[in-house]
Amino acid sequence: MLWLIASVFLFAFTGGFVNAIPKVMRTGKYLYTEDGTRFFIRGIAYQTQGLVIPGPDNPLNQPSTYVDNLADGAACQRDLPFLQQLGVNAIRAYSANASLNHDACMEAFSKAGIYVILDLTLPLNGSIDTNLPMWSTNTLDQFLRTIDAFKKYDNVLAYNVGNEVMTPSGGSQSAPFILSAARDVKAYLNSIQSSALVGYASIDGMPPFVDNNADFLACNHPDGHGAAIDLFGLNNYEWCGDDSKTRFDSMNSRYTDYPVAAYFSEFGSLNCNPPARIWTEVPVMYSTPMTNVWSGGVAFSYFSVMSRGHDFGMAKLSSDNRSVSTNTDFNNLAKQYNAIASTLPKTPAQSSVSQTNLPTCPTGLNATSSGALPPTPDDDACGCLADSLMCRFAPPKADYTVTMGNLVGVACGLMGQMGDPTPCKDISADGIKGVYGKVAMCDPTIRLSYVMSQYYEAAHGVPDACSFAGNATINPNGKAGTQALASKCIPSAAVFTPKPPPVLVPVSQPSQSGSGKGGGSGGGNNNGNGGGSNTNGGVSGLKLGLGVGTLGAGIGSLLLWTLTV
Ligand SMILES: *[C@@H]1O[C@H](CO)[C@@H](O)[C@H](O)[C@H]1NC(C)=O
Ligand SMILES: *[C@@H]1O[C@H](CO)[C@@H](O)[C@H](O)[C@H]1NC(C)=O
Ligand SMILES: *[C@@H]1O[C@H](CO)[C@@H](O)[C@H](O)[C@H]1NC(C)=O
Ligand SMILES: *[C@@H]1O[C@H](CO)[C@@H](O)[C@H](O)[C@H]1NC(C)=O
Ligand SMILES: *[C@@H]1O[C@H](CO)[C@@H](O)[C@H](O)[C@H]1NC(C)=O
Repeated sequence: MLWLIASVFLFAFTGGFVNAIPKVMRTGKYLYTEDGTRFFIRGIAYQTQGLVIPGPDNPLNQPSTYVDNLADGAACQRDLPFLQQLGVNAIRAYSANASLNHDACMEAFSKAGIYVILDLTLPLNGSIDTNLPMWSTNTLDQFLRTIDAFKKYDNVLAYNVGNEVMTPSGGSQSAPFILSAARDVKAYLNSIQSSALVGYASIDGMPPFVDNNADFLACNHPDGHGAAIDLFGLNNYEWCGDDSKTRFDSMNSRYTDYPVAAYFSEFGSLNCNPPARIWTEVPVMYSTPMTNVWSGGVAFSYFSVMSRGHDFGMAKLSSDNRSVSTNTDFNNLAKQYNAIASTLPKTPAQSSVSQTNLPTCPTGLNATSSGALPPTPDDDACGCLADSLMCRFAPPKADYTVTMGNLVGVACGLMGQMGDPTPCKDISADGIKGVYGKVAMCDPTIRLSYVMSQYYEAAHGVPDACSFAGNATINPNGKAGTQALASKCIPSAAVFTPKPPPVLVPVSQPSQSGSGKGGGSGGGNNNGNGGGSNTNGGVSGLKLGLGVGTLGAGIGSLLLWTLTV
């Protein structure tokens, strides 16, 4: 007991004297540490590649599982000396499991002056969907749970609300959803006194597409309530080999007037000449004129990541994961990062920079600037609805993505056959028109239950009408008037500061933090959004069409369903 008390004191004592990592804040389009020094991200991606299951459903080779590298304390200890050799001051991690303990990694990195840029997304259903975007309670709550798991650490630089969600082929229809996510996440961070920045990491592509998206995420949308992203990330693989110093000039001029901070959320092309990466973009990125616009970047990648036949990894693990060997790319990057550390521009001084006003929203992308943004997903309102629905989806198995996607199609098709001219309007969200059904903000299981209840009611409560081949059960406390119920529980679209997310399942914390194997099996997937997601470990250009795809078929084709009762 005495020992315990003593160690508590010792902890409190030393805690007060540790040189804490300074907070990083954004002023206008620049980043500064608390003492007013300009801050540049000198980062490296720190994410083990998840399991990629290739196939027609996955044309862009997105992983369906993830490793939570920040939960593996032993591995972080193993890697820290190498990160220090590289001279990085930040890592980017692409997925974390909010149920795990991250103390060992986060504290070790903090002590070493290393910040963490953390994506809040998870593979498969843990991200806003490219093709069927929603901003709903399940995704909001996942994001907030991750923030809750990391809020005690002083070295979280930024939380990303998406990675490569908008794509040249999928378009920008998800933009309003991402901006809403940034708005709500920011409000939550403010409410818990967190100064972490809110970011988005964009796929690169043709200027109008990328620039419009970038502008939209940092614009003064009437439904944004003054909030937007703080940090625009561009996954940029433009520089190749021993490239020309002017390589970035045109891209640079495009972003001269960008209102918030911007950086390269990934960089480092492979398959160039010379074959080993010499990282000559580093001295260019970290000096003027680039630094007038950009705040550094994140080299890709510490761990091995295979993409298009190339391995972007610079640190190779031994077969038992205990030791690391580095390659020529690593040594070259270390040389470049260390060389620029002492020559970083100090201007403009923070005192000379004003907070920029966000400009009006751009037109020219799928989402019109005049269209409404999705409201803040409301757990209480959706819970109220779920409690009273007459017929409820009862997931027959833990992984119910495919089932749910199918069943939404079935239920909506049945409503169409019952004469509903706009079946599933209430659960649909259209970012292009800015029209959001009342129930669209709810968890996908509630959305499905809602349509099942509508059908059950339309079929006059015939018990079979709430079976869906054994996928649904009658709620004894259900109330008739499904649509009116939605209006009662979810009276009007609103923007507000989200409350802490409801506790899911209590999970006991591991007693010894970080010594376990990182991460879990990820890849749960349901949300009936049915489609590709866009989260993880992705090299620029990697995109998934995970192709559950059934709901993705869109309302129009749902009438093809011919299930009869
Ligand atoms: C969205 O924009 C993309 C790229 O400009 C375009 O290919 C796509 O057809 C648009 N989608 C819609 C639904 O307007
Ligand atoms: C090594 O680490 C990776 C990623 O954390 C893990 O998937 C793999 O199972 C580990 N291998 C061994 C032998 O521990
Ligand atoms: C649930 O629905 C799915 C998809 O329509 C179907 O394949 C399955 O047989 C249904 N019943 C159960 C118990 O899974
Ligand atoms: C997250 O961690 C919890 C607790 O260890 C585990 O039960 C769960 O499977 C993990 N989730 C994922 C997606 O890995
Ligand atoms: C993803 O799906 C799994 C079940 O397959 C579910 O437990 C999890 O809550 C879902 N996540 C989100 C964000 O919807």
